[in-house]
Amino acid sequence: MKKILVTRKLLQSNEDRLKNLYDVRLNSNDELYSEKKLIDMSEGCDGILSALTDNLDAKTINNLPESIKILSNFAVGFGNIDLDAAKKRNIIVTNTPDVLTDATAEIGILLILGACRRASEGIESARASNWKWSADYLIGKQLTGTRLGILGMGRIGKKIAKIAKSLGMIIHYHNRSQLSTEKEYDATYHKDLKSLLSISDVLSICCPASKETSNMINKETLEFLPRGAVITNVARGDIVDDEALIDALNRRKVYAVGLDVYKGEPNLNPGYLKHKSAFILPHLGSATKETRTAMANLAIDNLEEFFKSGKCKNKVN
Ligand code: GLV
Repeated sequence: MKKILVTRKLLQSNEDRLKNLYDVRLNSNDELYSEKKLIDMSEGCDGILSALTDNLDAKTINNLPESIKILSNFAVGFGNIDLDAAKKRNIIVTNTPDVLTDATAEIGILLILGACRRASEGIESARASNWKWSADYLIGKQLTGTRLGILGMGRIGKKIAKIAKSLGMIIHYHNRSQLSTEKEYDATYHKDLKSLLSISDVLSICCPASKETSNMINKETLEFLPRGAVITNVARGDIVDDEALIDALNRRKVYAVGLDVYKGEPNLNPGYLKHKSAFILPHLGSATKETRTAMANLAIDNLEEFFKSGKCKNKVN
């Protein structure tokens, strides 16, 4: 029987399945393992079912026991894992695409609505009962007729585009390559970032974190946006230079932000906390029972496929 380390607590049905399949080391207290503890705990294991909160950098990967052959990441993103270091050690890395597209796109839309319609200020006032209706009270930005720029038209970007279109938004996107006409659903393609930003009344960041996208939204690129643009991020905090974005909010170059992901989670730049126009969520993208169950099942399927065939269709390195 294969031995598996599961670094975070999963939903009960997923842990039951793991117990049936493997000699499994679960984390019943859901403790956040340090790098050293993760290495120690994986002694004698054949694989690790890891989470986005595990920092599997080159140093950690190089210190993993020889027996580890697979890192099955419980996430679609894999920015927490040094893919090259894993490859050099002959460890395959897998992810959980598709199953979280809908849930994450829902949060992407919530960010757009929350930022545009001043939900943070509204919630605060309603809770404090210190509001009164008036014709100009908490006037926000209507989505109908507003141009939405999607940065990264992958599965999540496409689903956000579909919902946003039904809300009357006009969809533009930038991607490494243009989609075929039938997959574009009338969205307008922009070959470069500058061109997309220059028409984005609202920007939805949906691209993966990578060396190329790190701090892609920064002091210079923010200037391409129309004055009073709204920026939302459902992808990864690494794509945004926080200081530059907070400065743009301070200068009112940016009207509002809607954020679900941050650099250095769970801590976020305190600059965002001061802003009424920051609609902020604690990385809830895939947080529904159906989606988290499906993600963990896919992470287990990935282990199964690899142990049976030595391959895995969701391999990312
Ligand atoms: C969530 O952020 C994921 O990458 O699965």
